[in-house]
Amino acid sequence: MNTEFLSTAVAPLVYIASTMLFVFGLKGMTKVKSARRGNHLAAAGMFLAVVGALLELGLVDYRWIAIGLIVGAVVGAFLAIRVQMTEMPEMVALLNGFGGAASALVALSVVWNDVVEKDAAETMAHTLRGGAADAVTIALSILIGSITLTGSVVAMLKLKGKLKKGQPILLPGRHGINLVLGLGAIGLTAYAGFVATGAEGVTLATLGLTGVALLLGVLLVIPIGGADMPVVVSLLNSYSGVAASMAGFVVGNPLLIVAGATVGAAGLILTQIMCVAMNRSLLNVLVGGFGATDGGGGAGDQVMEYHNVRSCGAEEAAMVLEAAESVIIVPGYGLAVAQAQHTVRELASELEKRGARVTYAIHPVAGRMPGHMNVLLAEADVPHEQLIEMDLINSEFKNTDAVIVVGANDVVNPVANKDPGSPIYGMPILNAHEAKSVFVIKRSLGAGYAGIKNELFEMPNTMMIYGDAKKVLQDLVREVKDL
Ligand code: TAP
Repeated sequence: MNTEFLSTAVAPLVYIASTMLFVFGLKGMTKVKSARRGNHLAAAGMFLAVVGALLELGLVDYRWIAIGLIVGAVVGAFLAIRVQMTEMPEMVALLNGFGGAASALVALSVVWNDVVEKDAAETMAHTLRGGAADAVTIALSILIGSITLTGSVVAMLKLKGKLKKGQPILLPGRHGINLVLGLGAIGLTAYAGFVATGAEGVTLATLGLTGVALLLGVLLVIPIGGADMPVVVSLLNSYSGVAASMAGFVVGNPLLIVAGATVGAAGLILTQIMCVAMNRSLLNVLVGGFGATDGGGGAGDQVMEYHNVRSCGAEEAAMVLEAAESVIIVPGYGLAVAQAQHTVRELASELEKRGARVTYAIHPVAGRMPGHMNVLLAEADVPHEQLIEMDLINSEFKNTDAVIVVGANDVVNPVANKDPGSPIYGMPILNAHEAKSVFVIKRSLGAGYAGIKNELFEMPNTMMIYGDAKKVLQDLVREVKDL
């Protein structure tokens, strides 16, 4: 088979197969049951995409590709093995940043190859084969890709608590500065594509645009509090998709256009779902400042003033649980920290053996990333049918004998329904407080991510069981078995 045939006839077919795998992969990932298969399909699609690109390009230097593959695979495998489940949002943020950087680099390489190296005397719009359209997409790819890179790195540092412990950083006149930089970026986009001429002019203009976009990425994300970072990460994921799609236009690769647009749309939809689940508008998240004065954004070490809080030990709780006919488990961020998913399943099995009906109530923003609780519980082989979404389970709590809240806090805080002054006012919550008995397993009366007091802890039907979630659950399993 000659290279011409491979490039013009085989490569497009490989791209179509790859596109279909992406679409089926994404569809698979919408359900917990099929998520693993969806992931494999999408990975196979990505492999085919690489094969298709190599066939299309024909003669390329495989040495560089091999070096890239080896370095990327080693770093990727090392990170994937090392990273803890609770550090997943940071990892995703970093990967989004790399995606943005890759798109910006593709666009910069086209500028380098087709304009600077050729020492073209005209503007980009005149020199490039695609004319004005190419000039615009190149500039947009650099702009969005660079914003995604630095924005994602800041998001990662904030999630790690390395930047002012995740608190919003509010520069004076920040909206004005961002407006000027935004207008500057638009101006430089036009200048780089349509005004700057010659190798030197185009180089300076594109580097200027890159610099402004990198700065804008930092300034847009620093005012946003750590609590809102998962929403920002999801939005940056969408940006990285748009940047990839633009890069697809730049290099004339339809697969990259489709895949990038799919990521862009999926990221935007997820962002919207998260905003609705937290009762925040996207604009409110992006303007930033949430938690600047109320301690939000990783304020887990704050201790509030509580009155008449009752607590008990594992033995007392086990006696109530043993007699319960219906039990709802509410998992939260603390379950992930304690890695107690297997132990919670063990407790559920023991209670089921004694005739109880056990289900898990899943809040859409429990934990620190979308689907966090689903992933954790799936890892412990909790049957998918037992995971009930908030809207479906909320009417069940009032008929439930016992609720076990494991490391959850904000998602069961009744203040969200009552106090318009609360930072989580309007956020839909799980109605755990309506059950006959509520056991809350956590280490202290410390606040959750929103940094506020939780009225559930003071309610007469609530018992706190203090301690690390895994340790307390192990004690409960032992006590239930002993009864
Ligand atoms: P949080 O309200 O953050 O509460 C988690 C609780 O876990 C803490 O109060 C902490 O109390 C406890 N904890 C920590 N380590 C523990 C351990 N080893 N054993 C037992 N307990 C432990 O969690 P949540 O209820 O899951 O709510 C999630 C929050 O994150 C919401 O405010 C939500 O808006 C926000 N958020 C989530 C997302 C997504 S996508 N999930 C996105 C943006 C924002 P102690 O320190 O006393 O143990």
